[in-house]
Amino acid sequence: MDKPKVVLGVSGGIAAYKACELLRRLTESGHDVRVVPTASALHFVGAATWSALSGNPVSTEVWDDVHEVPHVRIGQHADLVVVAPATADTLARAAHGLADDLLTNTLLTARCPVVFAPAMHTEMWEHPATRENVATLRRRGAVVIEPAVGRLTGADTGKGRLPDPGEIFEVCRRVLARGVTRPDLAGRHVVVSAGGTREPLDPVRFLGNRSSGKQGYALARTAAARGARVTLIAADTALPDPAGVDLVRVGTAVELREAVLGAAADADAVVMAAAVADFRPAVYATGKIKKKDGQEPEPVALVRNPDILAELSGDRPRAGQVIVGFAAETDDVLANGRAKLKRKGCDLLVVNEVGERKTFGADESEAVVLGADGSETPVAHGPKEVLAETVWDLVAERLG
Ligand code: CTP
Repeated sequence: MDKPKVVLGVSGGIAAYKACELLRRLTESGHDVRVVPTASALHFVGAATWSALSGNPVSTEVWDDVHEVPHVRIGQHADLVVVAPATADTLARAAHGLADDLLTNTLLTARCPVVFAPAMHTEMWEHPATRENVATLRRRGAVVIEPAVGRLTGADTGKGRLPDPGEIFEVCRRVLARGVTRPDLAGRHVVVSAGGTREPLDPVRFLGNRSSGKQGYALARTAAARGARVTLIAADTALPDPAGVDLVRVGTAVELREAVLGAAADADAVVMAAAVADFRPAVYATGKIKKKDGQEPEPVALVRNPDILAELSGDRPRAGQVIVGFAAETDDVLANGRAKLKRKGCDLLVVNEVGERKTFGADESEAVVLGADGSETPVAHGPKEVLAETVWDLVAERLG
């Protein structure tokens, strides 16, 4: 079988050196990679490096090897184009259909999925011109992954770092596996909550739960690879930040509610995969609660937390928004799931059976997705990503 053909576009930013690692991962996992740098990219990493690492010729201009018509052929034959780093200038040229070098010609002739991994200073990323260019590219079906937050070229920090090359590779792998030119969540904004809330008792203790966050993270990653702009609202989890999503960290259910309702205002879909504590301590002790000799401990009084899923479903911030909940049940799984779907008022409810070694912390799960329209979609035991893909299939169907 032919190796999948990947074009790695590299534009002129300091993060170009990280694209060497991405190239390595792509070639080592069996892809035939043609690197197409811009002229500015070669100020950062030279053509010899790209050529040696890819095993293919490297050129920035349309005037080399003209008899092979490279400005058309490279794009036509690609199974995937990934531009990493994508500078503000490259995004602008791509959004406006300019074709003044080999990379922009390749972007115009490519009929395969295209992934952009932007990297630039925060001011450039936030500039209305860049925002509009990114929105245009997403609307047309390109996967534009969100830059990471952290140290930038100089001493400054902020949003604009190129995500970890391993994470960009994962996005490319998923996009290639789906193989669709126009991903079904392109131009959509989705909000995913993940992890378990922590409800503090005093400065050193909290009430928590066993959610690992893996299912929510799988939902965020798969949605990004399907072209969505993703806001991931993460309560407690030990997982590394996924690439290409806007990450908001929260602690308590009340903080989670505020973050979800804020992000949901312009969202097409909200998936509540977080394990939200139903109760929190009625009183937060500002000093550590100490044991007292000869005395039994005081009981901990609890109060109800807001039900975010029910609130969102009952008062949708946006018409046509699709809302998905999760339910972990131990007995009468389907009957309890149906009743919960009705009670919460959401469109879809993913029902997991929980028990010893089931669901919490595991990499795999098994579930039934219940629809408010009466549908039932079983998902066989398998990786949490498979369940995540099924959830997005059902969401995409409902978004139409
Ligand atoms: N959820 C929420 N806000 C809460 C509790 C839960 O938004 N305060 C969401 C969860 O994110 C999940 C769904 O509701 O998507 C189901 O949560 P679950 O705790 O299983 O449901 P409960 O209503 O608490 O039902 P029960 O305790 O009877 O199982």
